[in-house]
Amino acid sequence: MNKKIAVIGAGNVGATCAMYLAEANLADIVLVDILEGIPQGKALDLTQAGPVRGYNCMVTGSNNMKDIKGADIVIMTAGLPRKPGMTREDLLNKNADIVGSVAREIKKHAPKAYVIVVSNPLDLMTYHMQKETGFEPKRVLGQAGVLDSTRFRAFVAMELGVAMTDVQAMVLGGHGDTMVPLPRYTTVGGIPIGELIEKDRIKAISERTAGGGGEIVKLLKTGSAFYAPAAASVDMCRSIFCDEKKVLAASAHLTGQYGIKDIYIGVPVVLGAGGVEKILELKLSKAELGSLQKSAATYKEHLKIMGY
Ligand code: NAI
Ligand code: 2OP
Repeated sequence: MNKKIAVIGAGNVGATCAMYLAEANLADIVLVDILEGIPQGKALDLTQAGPVRGYNCMVTGSNNMKDIKGADIVIMTAGLPRKPGMTREDLLNKNADIVGSVAREIKKHAPKAYVIVVSNPLDLMTYHMQKETGFEPKRVLGQAGVLDSTRFRAFVAMELGVAMTDVQAMVLGGHGDTMVPLPRYTTVGGIPIGELIEKDRIKAISERTAGGGGEIVKLLKTGSAFYAPAAASVDMCRSIFCDEKKVLAASAHLTGQYGIKDIYIGVPVVLGAGGVEKILELKLSKAELGSLQKSAATYKEHLKIMGY
């Protein structure tokens, strides 16, 4: 295949992204990590699964960022994950160093790539990636909203005992405790959930969604979620790669939408071959808009700490 997708970080999220990408058979995949042998071993293992799983793309592993040369899309998963008791913001300093150094390599070796950031704290790391690469903001975006929305969808489906794929949901805001699930925009087979689920249960499901990452950290004890995060990242990657123009929640650069400027935060976007082709502005209630702006104000403070 002459198309290439690079995944930086061959840990839990990165290796799972590589697996889902291989199964989608879209492009060759290069998996890069600083740990010697890990990306090479996982890549070889994934390649050997190809004949049985029915894909033909090549998966290679490397410790050298030069090998992302010519990548069409880069999925950035390198960085420390949370341990129990940690917030995503506790990862700020260490992961900012990692994101900064990887960004400079992406700029050098894959200057035309679209970059999907997964490393936490997500919205801040996406901002940092855009600044450090200097790429147009529509080419740099962050994955969180698809994950938060799929968690919401799964919980709604579990509540009602219906097909998960029939539930559509939208979760906006920062990827953290200030995220804003939007039950008004959540439907089951086209029916708003307000008609199917009692108010107090919707509130409980929204709260479980906001704490969804922490719930898994507590269970795993040694790291954070990776199957759903990788699935969400690959969904975004596919929408860009195949010009699907899906409407998804993504961390995008705002220039005044929702009364917010120069910050990355989760909003509904159209994702296609042009990257973030459109940011959709929903008519939010006062309370919803207030939560989104509160979420943004928190990030402005963190960006100041990072020197922006
Ligand atoms: P992990 O610890 O399993 O893997 C991280 C990998 O990054 C390690 O293999 C490490 O060696 C590698 N790495 C570190 N510095 C590097 C560098 N400079 N270049 C290349 N590779 C480097 O962690 P996991 O679970 O894969 O999570 C990765 C990141 O994604 C974390 O920051 C985590 O918080 C975040 N995350 C974000 C989600 C989201 O929805 N945005 C969801 C899940 C995780
Ligand atoms: C999650 O939400 C840790 O951000 C990661 O699972």
